[in-house]
Amino acid sequence: MSKVLTSKDLTTDIYKNIQSKLLKSDDKPGLAIIQVGDRMDSTTYINLKRKKCDELGIDTFLYIYNETTPVKEIIKNINDLNNYDNIKGIIVQLPLPDKYTVEDEYHILNSVVPKKDVDGFHHHNMGNLILNKSSSSINRSYHVPCTAEGCFRLLQYHKIDILGKHIVIVGSSKVIGLPLSLLLLHNGATTTLCNIHTENIKNITKSADILISCCGSPHLIDSSWIKEDITIIDVGINHTENGIIGDVNYDDVISKVKYITPVPGCIGPLTIAILMEHLVNSI
Ligand code: GUN
Repeated sequence: MSKVLTSKDLTTDIYKNIQSKLLKSDDKPGLAIIQVGDRMDSTTYINLKRKKCDELGIDTFLYIYNETTPVKEIIKNINDLNNYDNIKGIIVQLPLPDKYTVEDEYHILNSVVPKKDVDGFHHHNMGNLILNKSSSSINRSYHVPCTAEGCFRLLQYHKIDILGKHIVIVGSSKVIGLPLSLLLLHNGATTTLCNIHTENIKNITKSADILISCCGSPHLIDSSWIKEDITIIDVGINHTENGIIGDVNYDDVISKVKYITPVPGCIGPLTIAILMEHLVNSI
């Protein structure tokens, strides 16, 4: 059996469900995307999301602001979008430019009404996740951050047992690591969330049954970080001179792992599929 964990069959299933839901619905969901600044990687991700929406017949509305735009102006637009019936989802591409404070980001993300917050970043959605309101992904009534849900669903899809397992996550962002640790914890895993300040990190990762890296540090993790027979999910999408590479040095760890996800082409496309699912579930 191959060591490479792919998301292809899972995303195909997700898109089949989306298409049948869209066929049955008279309502066409629109997605509003807010980009502040002009980061090239953000533009790339936004273009990928828009391309997928186009393929599904979903309208997208892109609002681009320069990095001197006052928070109030962005929030005013979001408030208008909250009231448009055709807009079913509103996303603010992160990260925001450095000029915006953590508090600015908080206010902007929390101005999206929770139902249209298809990224799951609103405190209402995050709060429901923390409190484990309906842990099953099938009947969840709120949005969970897409990449976190993608990693969780990938493990479920490949029937990788997480109950009682030690899952170490390298990277504690609100977008991925933190919500993913909660999803896994609520489903019986023992999770350790590491960040840039974690001391003796290799001692921690070496005890992991499953390692998930979402720290954005190209090839940080090599075979000296892991034990034999580990499962690795590499969420890193790092743009380098040698193309896109993950947080994990794939060639160095491959002989030691049980399973590993490839970069690029696994978690990235799955994240977009989950976003589309959230959008269609909001009709
Ligand atoms: N930046 C990195 N990942 C994401 C994501 O899932 N959603 C948004 N809006 N921005 C991101």
